[in-house]
Amino acid sequence: MAGYIKIEDDQTFSKQMFCIPQHYEDYLESVMIPKGLILNRTERLARDICRDLCHGPLVALCCLKGGYQFFSHLSEFIINYNGTSGHSVPFSIDFIRLKSYENDGSTNDVKIIGGDDLSSVKGKNVLIVEDIIDTGKTMKKLLEVISQFKPAQVKVVSMLVKRTPLRSSSYRPDYIGFEIPDKFVVGYALDYNEYFRDLNHICIINKEGIEKYRT
Ligand code: HPA
Ligand code: MG
Repeated sequence: MAGYIKIEDDQTFSKQMFCIPQHYEDYLESVMIPKGLILNRTERLARDICRDLCHGPLVALCCLKGGYQFFSHLSEFIINYNGTSGHSVPFSIDFIRLKSYENDGSTNDVKIIGGDDLSSVKGKNVLIVEDIIDTGKTMKKLLEVISQFKPAQVKVVSMLVKRTPLRSSSYRPDYIGFEIPDKFVVGYALDYNEYFRDLNHICIINKEGIEKYRT
């Protein structure tokens, strides 16, 4: 079982203690995970991933759009680690989009966009990079699709995993940054109806935010 940092149900920071863009200040409850902590944890994930996967060509697959910040920082750490540890492997990247959310609830529909380029993963070690695993249904579906392209190995890293004992499909990724309470979070590229991606820290949205940016 992968280790992770557990964020307790009541563990938050006052938003007054951080730099929050003014246009979002009234629409956030609190800061859950400051960006500095995300980066420190990401550095360690990169090391764990490299130890397991940097034995042959590695393809990192970014799940857009929410995964882009995490992906960007994680690949930088992986490239540094891979390039300075004596032994190194070719590292390539690819981007896909999974659509499964509307408003703040989970819908049944999962669409995989950009799958045409997936033939390049054949025979390689694949690292799927995801922002958040909620029910796990989306990831299960993606793993089915990827395996059809005959990669050597597939591992999944998710920056966040939600504690959702009732909704969860019991899927757990191979590497986890943080386990978080079952609250709707935004920031560090995670959005609510395309808003809040331009927020550095992972924050909890408030009732006013849910209302203001409802589609
Ligand atoms: N925030 C943003 N996107 C999400 C979340 C969340 O809490 N859960 C699943 N997708
Ligand atoms: Mg996502």
